[in-house]
Amino acid sequence: MQTLNLKKLPDESFKIIREVGKLADEKKIPVFLVGGMVRDLILGRKSLDIDIVVEGDAVLFASNLVKRLKEKPHKVLAHKKFGTVAIELLNGVGLDIVTARRESYARPGVLPDVVPGLIADDLFRRDFTMNAVAASLNTPEFGAIYDNFDGYADIQNKIIRVMHYRSFIDDPTRILRAVRYEKRFDFKFETKTLAVLKESMEENAFRSITPVRYFGEFKRILQEEDPRSMLKRLSSMDGLRFFVYDKGVEAGFNEVIHSSLKGDARWMSFFSVLIAALDRESAEELLVSFNMPRIDKARILKRLL
Ligand code: CTP
Repeated sequence: MQTLNLKKLPDESFKIIREVGKLADEKKIPVFLVGGMVRDLILGRKSLDIDIVVEGDAVLFASNLVKRLKEKPHKVLAHKKFGTVAIELLNGVGLDIVTARRESYARPGVLPDVVPGLIADDLFRRDFTMNAVAASLNTPEFGAIYDNFDGYADIQNKIIRVMHYRSFIDDPTRILRAVRYEKRFDFKFETKTLAVLKESMEENAFRSITPVRYFGEFKRILQEEDPRSMLKRLSSMDGLRFFVYDKGVEAGFNEVIHSSLKGDARWMSFFSVLIAALDRESAEELLVSFNMPRIDKARILKRLL
């Protein structure tokens, strides 16, 4: 069995996953590190957030974990019904703990029905093979790779591949994620993945998701170091839905890129540039349909004056 050298993770992350592994051993339940941190470790990139899958009760597991963490978390948010716990550590790092689950979609675009499952089920419900590699945290096989869908090879070969070809119809926000990964990592689409992505755009896939869900994922593009190539790509496939990305907008983006803005001020400036290209009435309607907090809405509108 192939093993990932988890010791290569930054010290703070390693300490936490070691603690997770020890608790898993004590409770005798299989526990795994999954998603972005595994992918980024294989790519040799740094990532902060830790995603844990437990073949058992994640809420109970997380409450036991919190008791034994030396540094108490800043925030803990548990959803008993979904079997998920989001923990925010003091240094801002996120630690997500979820019960392994199987998902099915009753209708395109709606949130999935969920039942508990095994790690293989949990990997299968994910967006792309690059995010569907797990590393065991239980002591006898600490770091052992669970790679049912050949994600490891896809990461090494820099390939974006969906787990199954209904993926973008089930969850169209994955179109935005795909473009974000393509440009962030300089990955290439597997031929059929790109074909089904384009097909789902032709079928107007975004129709089935609310503006709030669209914006939740779109915002993550604006939070990237350099969103320009992502927006260009989306624009070329008619995926901007509410916005335009033309020469004028690009000039606005260039200014923000060359500014010293950081954090919220930075992505909000990108967002203001997009909003400013719309007429005032559509802009205000859009801000309402995105359900933006009043304070953010006010900040954006102020920038437009
Ligand atoms: N995921 C998914 N479909 C979505 C959103 C998320 O399958 N629409 C899965 C992916 O497997 C992803 C995991 O949930 O790895 C966690 O999501 P997120 O935090 O958005 O991804 P990360 O990989 O942690 O973050 P990033 O990709 O930005 O580094």
